Amino acid sequence: MNLKDRNLVTIDDLSNGEILGLFSLATDMFDDMPGQLDVCKGKIMASLFFEPSTRTRLSFEAAMHRLGGSVITASDVGASSLAKGESISDTAKIVGSYADIIVIRHPWEGAAKVVADYAGIPVINAGDGGHQHPTQTLLDLYTIIKERHDIKGLKIALWGDLKYGRTTHSLIFALARFGADILFCPSPGLEVPAHVIEKLVNEYGGEVERLKDSARTDDNRFSIDAIYTTPNSPHQLAMMPDLSAQVELKDGVDALYVTRPQKERFTDKEQGQNLKAKYPVVNKKLLQDKVFRKTMVMHPLPRVDELAYDIDADERSMYFKQAARGVPVRMALLAALLGAKEINVPDVESPKPPVYHEYQQEPRPTCSNPRCVSIQPTETPYLKPEYKIVNTEPLTLRCVYCEHGFEPKFVASTDWHEHKLDTKKYHSADSHWAKFIHPENLIVFNSEEEAQSLGFKPSQFVGGRH
Ligand code: NCD
Repeated sequence: MNLKDRNLVTIDDLSNGEILGLFSLATDMFDDMPGQLDVCKGKIMASLFFEPSTRTRLSFEAAMHRLGGSVITASDVGASSLAKGESISDTAKIVGSYADIIVIRHPWEGAAKVVADYAGIPVINAGDGGHQHPTQTLLDLYTIIKERHDIKGLKIALWGDLKYGRTTHSLIFALARFGADILFCPSPGLEVPAHVIEKLVNEYGGEVERLKDSARTDDNRFSIDAIYTTPNSPHQLAMMPDLSAQVELKDGVDALYVTRPQKERFTDKEQGQNLKAKYPVVNKKLLQDKVFRKTMVMHPLPRVDELAYDIDADERSMYFKQAARGVPVRMALLAALLGAKEINVPDVESPKPPVYHEYQQEPRPTCSNPRCVSIQPTETPYLKPEYKIVNTEPLTLRCVYCEHGFEPKFVASTDWHEHKLDTKKYHSADSHWAKFIHPENLIVFNSEEEAQSLGFKPSQFVGGRH
């Protein structure tokens, strides 16, 4: 199969079969590194890193060199035209005319999608704010498969900053798709965002069981916030609701995926809360617990204090292997997207995301995520907010850029009765009337003032459920 000219912006851009096909190619390439030196000869990769990076950038650049291609680079916002106020779309068009493929890291969520929309060449997201980091997920999955042969049925605990850790967001969706069960073990205050849970449940089925505080371990050493089980595995807690989180753990976990606190993304309030002080640490002492006897310890790196050096030599520690595997995995991806190599796609099941209606009416609500690319002053002159209607109960719109969701409070229809001013009414979003509005006619408001300023009057279905 040919992946030529495709983008990798979120992990949804590849099916399970395509991911496995890329892994086979990565292994073939690793087994014969000298044989790859002509694969991308004459091709140029632009490496645009507008946030700090060591591993991701160097492994992409090493991958392109090992394929015989060349690299052009811009890594410092201060030294590029972005500092002069250039929009992302302009940068994308320019770089798209210089290179054959773009790898981009940017602090704004959804920035990689904008580059992909405007560059005209394949684009790979190397991390967009706290949104996603799909190539890290590829090498995480590759490592799990290399070590355990399959992902289905594994129990994987995600540990640390699950709020801003973009690597965990892409990984959650991928693990769910491959049929793993996930235990969420966030540091207090850094729980998985609601929009990630919403997508997990609506698109991959399964069940998320939120645990009560009483289900946490006494010393908060391994506190579990929620458990996601895939549709194909029965849920122990659902069957035995009174049992503690330890039940989920007693058979051990296959992997502990640790992340550092992403303090550069903390809000001022979060900075003040000293979230780092409560951050759980993985060390030799913790791994002595028998539930971790066969547990792989994974980490995207860099580490700060959450991963002790005393476990580096432990055979369960995978993080240096993960980083090393980044090169062949990225070689396979670059070669495939450049059309220089085909992949063999095995016949495996891959859940298909539902097809959602797009929100079509004006005025478009502004995305409420302060880190979303769609609200940045350099981007608003050309970027129109875009949403998908991903749920009707409660009515939920998802931004196509950062994927944050929001639940508007009031709604109206463009198809108001006979188009008389008297019948131009707005309703509570949770009223039964709201459900009769066709998606293409739906207008949403965040406040009654907003609805009234556009000439709508309150219907009887405003305030309280009807
Ligand atoms: C991660 C990232 O940038 O999101 N690092 C990486 O790419 N290996 C994780 C992190 O910075 O904590």
